[in-house]
Amino acid sequence: MNEFGGNWTENKIEILVEYARAYLTIMKKKAEEYNWQLLYFDGFAGSGEIKGEDKNNIVGAAKRILEIDHPRGFDLYYFVEKEKEFAENLKKTLHETFPNKKKCIHVANNDCNEKIESMSRFLSEKKKRYKSLAYIDPYGMQVNWKSLQTLKQHSVDVWILVPTGIGLNRLLKKDGNISEAWIAKLEMFLGMTKDEILPYFYQESTIHTLFGEEIKITKEQNAVEKAAKLYEERLKNLFKFVSKPYILKNKNNSIMFHFFMASDTRVAINIANSITKKFNNGTI
Ligand SMILES: C[S@@+](CC[C@H](N)C(=O)[O-])C[C@H]1O[C@@H](n2cnc3c(N)ncnc32)[C@H](O)[C@@H]1O
Repeated sequence: MNEFGGNWTENKIEILVEYARAYLTIMKKKAEEYNWQLLYFDGFAGSGEIKGEDKNNIVGAAKRILEIDHPRGFDLYYFVEKEKEFAENLKKTLHETFPNKKKCIHVANNDCNEKIESMSRFLSEKKKRYKSLAYIDPYGMQVNWKSLQTLKQHSVDVWILVPTGIGLNRLLKKDGNISEAWIAKLEMFLGMTKDEILPYFYQESTIHTLFGEEIKITKEQNAVEKAAKLYEERLKNLFKFVSKPYILKNKNNSIMFHFFMASDTRVAINIANSITKKFNNGTI
């Protein structure tokens, strides 16, 4: 069972479910008119339940999405989970809970990147007949930029959890002395080169000392916010619009993640913005 992360775990699911309901309401008529099929893709699906802080477990996003029937559900549900035991549990619980939808529920025990890329190939083959909603909910920096790139122009609305505080900012060491392995991770995650990433987060200045000149490296003070801005800009290279994020903070009020929605449809972003605003208590 997945571990609970705080009340933002519940908020994140509520945001997704509220959006999915609006999406399905809008898409119902359009799908009938244009003969579209609706696909739901969850790249980090979990085991079906999340262990709560108290004795109550939280129902995971997969079940919450499958519960939606009105005005309609999705035609196909594709869940990806890397942990074998979690994937098996998820498949069992979803098939038992939703016997009528068994045929359209697929659970893959794989890496999300691999399956994002296969989904994109599938959507290419189907030539615009499918419209999709994707939920990408990792704990860390598992999503490679090159996988997300394959989603471009495939009519996918994507909710994505970006580990700005607990991922990116942690790799960006204060003194700028970042290991090659971490640089490689940053490059894969952002789809940028070291020479593009480092000047964005660090400033170099020359200081004059008794023994000559020294280069001083200073990290941006608001690196987490800058990381969110950068990721938003990156997403705008793939999607026409990106929503305002829902900001997930820990008990000490430090930012851990930014939760964005990206889409090629303006209406979709307007809906996402009104939902994130509500969950940010009207602040953003
Ligand atoms: C935040 S949890 C998901 C919770 C889930 N969305 C829910 O609502 O119950 C992240 C999950 O991703 C899985 N995971 C980690 N790396 C993965 C990867 N590269 N591909 C697919 N799943 C992965 C973990 O085993 C974990 O179950």
